[in-house]
Amino acid sequence: MTTVTLSAWLRCPICFLPLEPRPPLALVCASGHSHDVNRRGYVTLLSPRTRVVGDDAAMLDARDAFLSAGHYRPIADAAAELLPGGRAQRILDAGCGTGYYLRRVLEDRPDATALALDLSPAAVSRAVRGDDRIDGLVADVWAPLPVRDGAATAILNVFAPRNPEEFWRVLEPGGSLVVVVPDGDHLRELRERGLVLGVQEEKRERLLEALSSRFELDREIPVRTTLSLAPESVSSLIGMGPSAHHRHGNDPVEQQTPVTASVTALRFLRRD
Ligand SMILES: C[S@@+](CC[C@H](N)C(=O)[O-])C[C@H]1O[C@@H](n2cnc3c(N)ncnc32)[C@H](O)[C@@H]1O
Ligand SMILES: [Zn+2]
Repeated sequence: MTTVTLSAWLRCPICFLPLEPRPPLALVCASGHSHDVNRRGYVTLLSPRTRVVGDDAAMLDARDAFLSAGHYRPIADAAAELLPGGRAQRILDAGCGTGYYLRRVLEDRPDATALALDLSPAAVSRAVRGDDRIDGLVADVWAPLPVRDGAATAILNVFAPRNPEEFWRVLEPGGSLVVVVPDGDHLRELRERGLVLGVQEEKRERLLEALSSRFELDREIPVRTTLSLAPESVSSLIGMGPSAHHRHGNDPVEQQTPVTASVTALRFLRRD
């Protein structure tokens, strides 16, 4: 990260003019609004009215433990297959979490650069760590994004909130949006035992509906497998999700447990 590469992605969240670097660690617009860049290499551009909170450190630790064990590697491979390769890509990861999927995607794109965006500063801090090609932005996906028009060649969005209008605006013409959503039976065994909350909705159908005016579906890859999880992996899987506040400290299962992983990775093309 440098303030130069970071600013090339960004516009001022107040007046929407492009942000330019001002040494040593600020970004400024032509109206004179100044935004400090964190020494860890990311900038926070949130409206003071933002109320929603992103994932906290405990959830991110659980996510990190689960993902680094490789259980979701086939999902990351599917996302990497769907994202465009070739010429220098500029990839925006919206709702990046720990940056696991973004790092996988960058593995086979040596000349790509990326912006890791999340509402959680702890998440963005982890996502930018250890790869100079990744810049970081703390922002709210539901608000007008402080990202320049057409700044991205592709957007990655894995198990995270979406803003179709803003994704359309920040993608260049012809750009791709790759989304991963859970299917109805994802984590079925844990759901049946009440270990993860809520009934899984048919997210694919809702996704197609929500994106239809701005994006057209181009290709999709279903990823279905039965994981065999050790008790501590089940704990991590539960801890990284929205039911995290229901944990009690002990592992919820005693032995190796089969768990269905069932998701769909979809590539959409931006409509003109
Ligand atoms: C289920 S996690 C997925 C993270 C990552 N893509 C992954 O799959 O490992 C959802 C992420 O979206 C972030 N998030 C939630 N609401 C958000 C919002 N309004 N704007 C930006 N990020 C948000 C959370 O902080 C969290 O990191
Ligand atoms: Zn401004």
